[in-house]
Amino acid sequence: MVLWGLVPGTLLVAMVGCLWLLGLFRQRRPQEPPLDKGFIPWLGHAMAFRKNMFEFLKYMRAKHGDVFTVQLGGQYFTFVMDPLSFGSILKDAQRKLDFVKYAEKLVLKVFGYRSMQGDHRMIHSASTKYLMGDGLEDLNKTMLDSLSLVILGPTGQSLDAGCWREDGLFHFCYNVLFKAGYLSLFGCTKNQEQDLLQAEELFVQFRKFDFLFPRFVYSLLGPWEWLEVARLQRLFHRMLSVNHNLEKNGISNWISYMLQCLREQGTAPAMQDKFNFMMLWASQGNTGPNSFWALLFLLKHPEAMRAVRKEAAQVLGEAKLKARQSFGIEISALHHTPVLDSVMEETLRLGTAPTLLRVVHGDHILKMASGQEYLLRSGDIVALFPYLSVHMDPDIHPEPTAFKYDRFLNPNGSRKVDFYKSGKKIHHYTMPWGSGVSICPGRFLALSEMKLFVLLMVTYFDLELVDPDTPVPPVDPRRWGFGTTQPSREVRFRYRLRPAK
Ligand code: HEM
Repeated sequence: MVLWGLVPGTLLVAMVGCLWLLGLFRQRRPQEPPLDKGFIPWLGHAMAFRKNMFEFLKYMRAKHGDVFTVQLGGQYFTFVMDPLSFGSILKDAQRKLDFVKYAEKLVLKVFGYRSMQGDHRMIHSASTKYLMGDGLEDLNKTMLDSLSLVILGPTGQSLDAGCWREDGLFHFCYNVLFKAGYLSLFGCTKNQEQDLLQAEELFVQFRKFDFLFPRFVYSLLGPWEWLEVARLQRLFHRMLSVNHNLEKNGISNWISYMLQCLREQGTAPAMQDKFNFMMLWASQGNTGPNSFWALLFLLKHPEAMRAVRKEAAQVLGEAKLKARQSFGIEISALHHTPVLDSVMEETLRLGTAPTLLRVVHGDHILKMASGQEYLLRSGDIVALFPYLSVHMDPDIHPEPTAFKYDRFLNPNGSRKVDFYKSGKKIHHYTMPWGSGVSICPGRFLALSEMKLFVLLMVTYFDLELVDPDTPVPPVDPRRWGFGTTQPSREVRFRYRLRPAK
């Protein structure tokens, strides 16, 4: 009897527990930001968010203002939309906002990689050594050779001068940047033909994974797609296995150093393969799509193309344009291209839309630039989406949706770094690389490889859109928040090697 009496009590406790888990009891506490749980228990606004994050956040900002908390799949996210208040979140002097814990969960799910303590610091220190300064100069030379190999083929000039070729611009840029980047960082063998074939195969599989990636992260895949993702993960672990390293030469110092650190920590070879997969993703998922946007904007804006070509001719010199065996660009030229720099900065502003996430450890007061204070609840996530709150802010960037190639140039031709919001100088006037502890450690390499590619394309090739009137395609809305955006459709273009002068 006594036992039977326990059943309703237990059921009640279980029900209350479920309702609590579904978030039904959560109420906004004094000083907390506006809370919007949505109508569906636990899911909250997840569906609208995943369908089109940009539109969803625009709507929420109009409804609640610059700070609000929304429920997305059982987790509460506080979005901060005022860039003048980003400083305290990104500096996080009290160490209450944690990037690493969230990232560790994500990389385990996506790449199968189980992080070790200190990995984050190790990746950043490897990048400071080998993706910046002198290390970067060496890598840039390798990258130029790889771009020559991929575009011109192993024997130098596999493209007939004067003969037009047609391709999808997105496919072309992604394919070239991916293969050149992969070979430069992960090394090659003595057989260049074979290396190119392997890189092509890797690219084909990478694009399949890339396509499923946003819905994979949001756990929205169908059963067959789950199987496909698992197959692709295994394939990448195999193709990037450290067991192949002995056959390779020219593995970049960046990768070698990080693998060495993992070995010293006793990381198993199978886990090192997964680390390689993670690094392939981080290093190759953005540069191709960004280069696509850059070339497309140049093709759609002839005055910008003329300015970039003029600058290229000035810094590279006419003599260099004649030598076509491989691309003979002086790497130091990359330091003297303010116009191209502005084009790239503008492209990154328009084309890159990452989300920055930090887990709140212990209740925490967020001080806004206006002086207002908000209480952030322990366990919630603070989120920034600079594409909407910074890149598209008409106060900071007038006519924010327009491509203006000289937006980041001063009238005297130097780099423009002074931007204002509400009359105040703003530090974070674009944030394509993230910021603070999680800032992209590969940003200098990324910029120089994209610049090299664009320089080669505008210098050595004639380029034209198959349909010059084709509009710039809209962004695929499922990719908001995942770094560089991708177009919702392909754009056809033609290219041909310019005949020698
Ligand atoms: C246009 C190209 C690129 C863009 C827009 C980009 C953007 C980003 C962003 C926004 C993050 C931070 C994500 C966060 O806060 O969670 C990030 C992280 C990272 N990026 Fe990049 N990236 C690019 C290219 C590269 C390249 C070429 C490399 C390496 C060669 C690289 C290596 C990494 C790594 C290792 C991380 C993780 C860092 C960490 O764990 O703190 N990225 N990238």
